Amino acid sequence: MSKTADYIKEYDKYVLGTYTRNPIVIERGEGSWVWDAEGKKYLDFFPGWGVSSLGHCHPAVVKAVKEQVGRILHMPNNFYNEWQGRLARKIVEKAFSGKVFFGNSGAEANEGALKLARRFGEPEGRFEIITMNASFHGRSLATITATGQEKYHSGFGPLIPGFKYVPFNDLSGLKNAITDKTTAIMLELVQGEGGVNVARPDYVQAIREICDEKRILMIVDEVQTGMGRTGEYFVFQTYGIEPDVMTLAKALGGGLPIGAFVVKDEFAGYLPPGTHASTFGGSPIVCAASLAVFQVMEEGKILDNVGEMGDYLLEELLRLKAEFPIIKEVRGIGLMLGIELDREGKPIVDSCLDKGLMVNCTAGNILRVMPACNINRDEIKHAIMILRGVLRENGD
Ligand SMILES: Cc1ncc(COP(=O)(O)O)c(C=O)c1O
Repeated sequence: MSKTADYIKEYDKYVLGTYTRNPIVIERGEGSWVWDAEGKKYLDFFPGWGVSSLGHCHPAVVKAVKEQVGRILHMPNNFYNEWQGRLARKIVEKAFSGKVFFGNSGAEANEGALKLARRFGEPEGRFEIITMNASFHGRSLATITATGQEKYHSGFGPLIPGFKYVPFNDLSGLKNAITDKTTAIMLELVQGEGGVNVARPDYVQAIREICDEKRILMIVDEVQTGMGRTGEYFVFQTYGIEPDVMTLAKALGGGLPIGAFVVKDEFAGYLPPGTHASTFGGSPIVCAASLAVFQVMEEGKILDNVGEMGDYLLEELLRLKAEFPIIKEVRGIGLMLGIELDREGKPIVDSCLDKGLMVNCTAGNILRVMPACNINRDEIKHAIMILRGVLRENGD
């Protein structure tokens, strides 16, 4: 039996089958490349669903983790550690003035933001939270409820009361949904799982105004868009607004599990001691890794690279669109790009994988490419060569 078959057999016997998996066992990664158990090499254009945004095993992140591992692995949050304050300061300096809570995942970051919104509205009896159709906010019970997609709700009812869904980019729909019970509006500015749908600037600015006027919390989920993916540290910065609460995860830890939300100072008092906690949140190792991510982003001029490589990749994808009528649209910001097809994307993703390129398909027909933020021109050329070959084979 091959090594791969061996691993899969054990896995299938003992691991809960909640994921649809490719029959490939990845053993190691370096930069934008990964190797499977049979020695096959892949160019990863969807590294860790946005987690491995500096590529796999970035040496600075690995070094920071190794140094910290020998000092202390874990200390509970009823003591201070030397890292959390430093990391929170870094996040706030890059985002907006406020306070940070640390958890371990995107769902946990959003869960905390939702709890904050409830506490914020509670004195005036406000509890309703408005989210968008086609959004995605996580897999905990509150975050599937916040997620505006039926398929994630199915079989888990009754869901948490007080959530309303409105069409994305539709201001009048949103205005109609607001009542005197509304406490928060939560959205992604580029919907990732929903199909790389980009919010219009006038829409986002109008939401900001409504939230100010009606004292509603504006929560922006930057779990996927955060940490340079769109060419700024956070995508809200391209819209000329500041949210009241921002949630982060994925790329923040450079490959280690972290989630965080940042809340503006004026709302920080709504979660006083005892109202929220996470045993592993802000662990020394994860914080050390995250600080290394910030250092690499600054010293490696990563945002400049996202701008330059994002333009180059978009240009190449638009060239493919001109060649292949099965591509209906190419959209996105920076290195978060979606290719809308006139058909199911899975066969294309599978053929790419077969030829050594990892991309993703979401919402049925949207190919999603989110290469590492330190990707280079040669790697993009290689990906485009494979994609062109696959589109040629799968086109009409
Ligand atoms: C926008 C957004 N929010 C939240 C999440 C949930 O993050 P996690 O899987 O870390 O809980 C995701 C995951 O894909 C996401 O894309």
